[in-house]
Amino acid sequence: MSRRAAPFQLALINHKGGTGKTTLAVNLAAALARRGPTVLVDLDPQGSALQWAAQSGAAGLPMAVYGAEAAQMLADESQPSPHYVVWDCPPALQQDGLQALLGRVDRVLVPVLPSALDLWASWHLVRLLEQAGAGRSAWRAAFVLNQAEPDRAWSQAMNEAVAEFGLELLQSVVRRRAIYRSAALQGQTVHTLGRQAAAARAEIEAVLEEILK
Ligand SMILES: Nc1ncnc2c1ncn2[C@@H]1O[C@H](COP(=O)(O)OP(=O)(O)O)[C@@H](O)[C@H]1O
Ligand SMILES: [Mg+2]
Repeated sequence: MSRRAAPFQLALINHKGGTGKTTLAVNLAAALARRGPTVLVDLDPQGSALQWAAQSGAAGLPMAVYGAEAAQMLADESQPSPHYVVWDCPPALQQDGLQALLGRVDRVLVPVLPSALDLWASWHLVRLLEQAGAGRSAWRAAFVLNQAEPDRAWSQAMNEAVAEFGLELLQSVVRRRAIYRSAALQGQTVHTLGRQAAAARAEIEAVLEEILK
């Protein structure tokens, strides 16, 4: 029997592209890395998170970033286990790959844009998440609103639309901010971009606190 403590694992999933999976995966993994050794796994053949890490140059990112081969590495009982693993998923994750991933993670975060069309596109995924979570008391899956605008009426409408899905919506939202795009361009995260990223850093920390609760 292995004595390795199992890592806490979080997956960012949405079958739609462009909802912020990679942006949130990288920034949340960097925030987790301040708490303990963290591995970010880039499952997307497009390799955006790996490219992000490559942009970081000699300074690097505070967590290790691997491609799909990490799954095997993480299973190697002779290696020390990280405390946290974050999975950045491609939009076209195949059914069996998705099922296997859902079976191993503790939390799933589904980033959605503030658009009804985007939300409706995640209907099928929500049903899969319900099945995956059945009977697992420590499991949680939730939507997180990304690229939110500071518009109260619209937020309220989105909240009501999300409620129909029966999946939790995190209280914390991630606003639309140019700093997220420049962080990727510079191979940085909101935790290393100083005062200009303070608001973004605070919202990433708030999202993380809710996930770890
Ligand atoms: N909160 C945000 N504010 C501004 N731009 C964002 C935000 N989240 C994501 N983006 C930008 O939106 C695009 C899609 O995000 P990305 O993380 O690549 O989505 P996905 O991984 O789901 O395809 C990228 O150009 C990214 O920089
Ligand atoms: Mg991506």
